[in-house]
Amino acid sequence: MLTEQEKLDSLTRLGIELSQINDLDILMERVLTRARQFANADAGSIYIRQEDWLNFSYTQNDTLQKKLPRNEKLIYSTFKIPIDTKSIAGYVAATGRTLNIRDVYRLEATLPYRFSKRFDETAGYKTQSVLTIPLENSNRNILGILQIINTQDDEGRITEFSHRDELMMHHFASVAAVALERAQMTRALILRMIRMAEMRDPRETGPHVNRVAGFAVEIYEQWALRHHIDRKVIDKSRDVLRMAAMLHDVGKVATSDLILKKPARLNADEYEDMKQHTIQGARLFEQQQSDFDEAAGIVALNHHERWDGRGYPGHVDFRTGLPIKGYTLPDGSVRGKQGNEIPLFGRIVALADVFDALSTKRTYKEAWDESDIRQQIEKNAGTHFDPELVEIFFSRYEMLRSIQKRYAEEAC
Ligand code: C2E
Ligand code: SIN
Ligand code: SIN
Ligand code: SIN
Ligand code: FE
Ligand code: FE
Repeated sequence: MLTEQEKLDSLTRLGIELSQINDLDILMERVLTRARQFANADAGSIYIRQEDWLNFSYTQNDTLQKKLPRNEKLIYSTFKIPIDTKSIAGYVAATGRTLNIRDVYRLEATLPYRFSKRFDETAGYKTQSVLTIPLENSNRNILGILQIINTQDDEGRITEFSHRDELMMHHFASVAAVALERAQMTRALILRMIRMAEMRDPRETGPHVNRVAGFAVEIYEQWALRHHIDRKVIDKSRDVLRMAAMLHDVGKVATSDLILKKPARLNADEYEDMKQHTIQGARLFEQQQSDFDEAAGIVALNHHERWDGRGYPGHVDFRTGLPIKGYTLPDGSVRGKQGNEIPLFGRIVALADVFDALSTKRTYKEAWDESDIRQQIEKNAGTHFDPELVEIFFSRYEMLRSIQKRYAEEAC
């Protein structure tokens, strides 16, 4: 239990500490930890609003955690509850009012909300006092709720949350709301950026980027399962990769219309110009404000590298376009990245992009036959493509075909 002095110190440091965290998940976990510490609460959760629902997004529970083997994480089936006045969390999200409940098993029958015993029953836990606070943004929209459970006194007995706890929790809630709002604004900006890229090249870009993103996410997930990546990391990476893959060619906004829309093969000079779209794309994400910027930069820069080192732009500094020191070949040209020098997301999008480019008609070429495409990809395992990813490609071929059908040319 924190002393009063420690509480004050911790509050003062909180803003600074949290402003240094870019990753939304880590930040929300930290807010929850600090909020619980402050109120000496055994458990807590943050629910995030998605339209008319609250998603149970982050949760901590000391009592249940202690029963688990070391380092094992709490597993909750992700569930969601409707935003209405029938549940405690729903009521707070629907009305924007804070609820400070002394004992959820002794709610007056006249109240509109009930405690759902479902959580206690599945988890083997006894909830008693619950403090629930709305997460409100600057426009007073409710983005979610912060809930802390079972505050304990000096002797470890469960007691009720004080008025002071209530006031303090508003501070934590506002930190969480700002972080959430920032993440949601980033997301909205990215979606706008994707639409702008589509406007530039509407005939090809719209359906192409959706398919490439769908393929990339499918291939990534299979790769991650084979490599025993944690489920939470997979889910998060899927989301980041989907948006990054949709923007793989966004650097083409800097390519002239004459080249971009040329209804014939490019000559050597034009092709050199076209290749710049990798570097131009990476420059758009240079600021790295979020995980997403990092992934989008990686994808834009690396999606035309080849496993055998014969791709582009190779080991260049994307800011200047010049070779990185030590990566120049005797003739002065830059060495291509090869094998695992190419980041995973770049290797994945390379395969997804070519599969889609071959499968569809372009202004400069016809679509290929399915069997020719399969042969081409098979043949290029270990030369153009990461051989492991090609293996995954064929093991998930039916799924990839169904994604392709889902995003057929309807958007043209
Ligand atoms: P994209 O159309 O999205 O094509 C992506 C990649 O798919 C190409 O990267 C290439 O690796 C593969 N690809 C596409 N079509 C063919 C094909 O007919 N045969 C083979 N073997 N591979 C194919 P690449 O070549 O680096 O091109 C990058 C981008 O440059 C293309 O994106 C496209 O926008 C543009 N581009 C490339 N060649 C031409 C061309 O001759 N004319 C025009 N107008 N644009 C071209
Ligand atoms: C969620 O984590 O459930 C959604 C968050 C978001 O929309 O950014
Ligand atoms: C999509 O749903 O957009 C693509 C398919 C997938 O997620 O695997
Ligand atoms: C990534 O591209 O972000 C993943 C890094 C890797 O495994 O190459
Ligand atoms: Fe490209
Ligand atoms: Fe492409």
